[in-house]
Amino acid sequence: MLSVLFLLLVGAFTIGANPVNFADCPFPNGTDKAIHSYMCSDNEQFSITDIQTLDSNQKPYYPIDPRHPFILNLTTYNHGEQIDDNKVKVKINQYKSGWTGGCSWKSIPTFGLLDDIDGCDFAHNCPLESGPLFLILPLDLSQFSVIIELLAAHKPYELEIRMFNHNPGNTKHEEIACVMAQLELS
Ligand SMILES: *[C@@H]1O[C@H](CO)[C@@H](O)[C@H](O)[C@H]1NC(C)=O
Ligand SMILES: *[C@@H]1O[C@H](CO)[C@@H](O)[C@H](O)[C@H]1NC(C)=O
Repeated sequence: MLSVLFLLLVGAFTIGANPVNFADCPFPNGTDKAIHSYMCSDNEQFSITDIQTLDSNQKPYYPIDPRHPFILNLTTYNHGEQIDDNKVKVKINQYKSGWTGGCSWKSIPTFGLLDDIDGCDFAHNCPLESGPLFLILPLDLSQFSVIIELLAAHKPYELEIRMFNHNPGNTKHEEIACVMAQLELS
């Protein structure tokens, strides 16, 4: 009995280890046409109502080639105090099928490189004043080429972006925004 179970397990893992070409997963949430974003936590200091992706001439641009600089056009609202300093943590997932079937988000290794990004330096977005904000954020991901090398073209990815308050004197470093951005990379 045990040996049969063992054989079944070995069989299953052998199939799993083969370079089987699983069917591509459909792009979720219309990400083959446009970026899809939503807040991943409720009632935080920042709410984000729209994200658009632009090329360096501020023309609509999609899908995104992460090897070249691009621009995020972010429509957001700061419900609290002005933010003069912030840290950002990013996780990357790819939407793919596994050998057990079904499509799901699987994490991509980021080697800790995206755990402690200085939001002010990286996105030039400080200060973030109170109230409505219309941000044009030029982004250059070239310093993260180690991670970008791991990403395949024409596949759906999602970035879980969490921002923390690092204002002078703030020791709590509470999370002030969590945004999920789902998009196709080219
Ligand atoms: C599609 O977006 C919604 C929020 O707009 C989210 O709840 C859902 O998990 C997303 N679907 C996938 C497959 O990620
Ligand atoms: C940025 O987004 C806002 C809100 O959707 C839009 O009105 C504005 O035209 C966009 N700016 C550019 C440069 O595309």
